[in-house]
Amino acid sequence: MLNDPYNHDRPMILPSILSADFTRLGDEIADVASADFLHCDIMDGRFVTNISFGPVAVRAARKAAPGAYLDCHLMVTHPEELGRPLVEAGANALTFHAELADNVRRTLDSICNACAETGADVGVAINPATPAEAVFPILDRVKLVLVMSVVPGYSGQSFIDAVLPKVEAIKMRMRPDQRLEMDGGIGPDTARRCRDAGCDWFVAASAIFGQQNRRQAIADLRTAIG
Ligand code: DX5
Ligand code: ZN
Repeated sequence: MLNDPYNHDRPMILPSILSADFTRLGDEIADVASADFLHCDIMDGRFVTNISFGPVAVRAARKAAPGAYLDCHLMVTHPEELGRPLVEAGANALTFHAELADNVRRTLDSICNACAETGADVGVAINPATPAEAVFPILDRVKLVLVMSVVPGYSGQSFIDAVLPKVEAIKMRMRPDQRLEMDGGIGPDTARRCRDAGCDWFVAASAIFGQQNRRQAIADLRTAIG
């Protein structure tokens, strides 16, 4: 796995450990070592209906993969409360949701402060129903934009095609050092369409952890995105 994501121009594959077997997390992470980074889905049961895991599991992932880039997706109502614990647990990127609209700038400031301690990257995410414009006011201050292609909360849902024009609109405004990430319903076919629309990073839970042969699943995704 890589830990310097911005020195590489090629598309990246991020297995989401949400679909890993948590009774053997270390082995599961070792099994996807041919991917690029790890995606950690933090859910609080409020911003989304599901509750997943928090800093304790991120720390375990860090222990299992000391050199991996841990990309943390915060589907939580108060991301500012989790920023510091997550970077201390080993997170390399914290991506919060722009739907926390009343205080998106305050949230951004707080996440930036937490990330500054370790040099972690800051990202902003939008749900399928949220317009691209929601990220424009803070686009210059983030390294990552994550576009959800399913309603957040669960893995194993179908890709929502209607998000693709949004990707093109956002990508047009991004600098070369920024990255656009797609999350939800990604498999070889949808990944290829996302790549054509301008996506750089591809999150996949079921299309990797849901398969018997994870190495082959990762190879199939790589072939699809070129
Ligand atoms: C959904 C999470 C995704 C999820 C993707 O709320 O943000 O990262 O794990 O799962 P798949 O790839 O199965 O759609
Ligand atoms: Zn995610």
